[in-house]
Amino acid sequence: MERSLVLIKPDAVQRGLIGEVITRLERRGLRLIAAKFMSVSKELAETHYATHIGKSFYEPLIKFITAAPVMAMVWQGPDAITAIRQTMGKTKATEAAPGSVRHDFALETRYNLTHASDSPESAEKEITLWFKKEELISWERDVERWIYE
Ligand code: CMP
Repeated sequence: MERSLVLIKPDAVQRGLIGEVITRLERRGLRLIAAKFMSVSKELAETHYATHIGKSFYEPLIKFITAAPVMAMVWQGPDAITAIRQTMGKTKATEAAPGSVRHDFALETRYNLTHASDSPESAEKEITLWFKKEELISWERDVERWIYE
């Protein structure tokens, strides 16, 4: 079973799309195991996006992610990382598949509404960065037996 960090970014929060994104992940069959609505400190933003230091979009990205609250979450399911990235669509909104969140609601790469972990390794690192162990809720979603084995 895989886990992924998902951030509903400031643009999606401002546009009232929190419910839309959560609904799509729930409908997909994934299990929500942690969530918090929070302001992002400069330190947290810089640690989270450390791999992008030096890139042309880095400074505006830090400004953007700290400009308004985000909804930080952890979702779990079989092949969750691939499934979530597919639900969100490609990072560049104009390349996102029709029906994906970014295709349906975004136009630009920076204002791409969500972040989702890109590998099991980065998921583990990101989940540890954003959540304390006790914030991850262990529970059974009974309907899962009708979604996967
Ligand atoms: P995310 O999946 O959060 O990972 C890095 C973020 O940087 C990305 O989504 C975009 O918000 C932003 N980003 C990536 N590439 C570019 C780009 N070329 N121009 C502007 N922003 C970018």
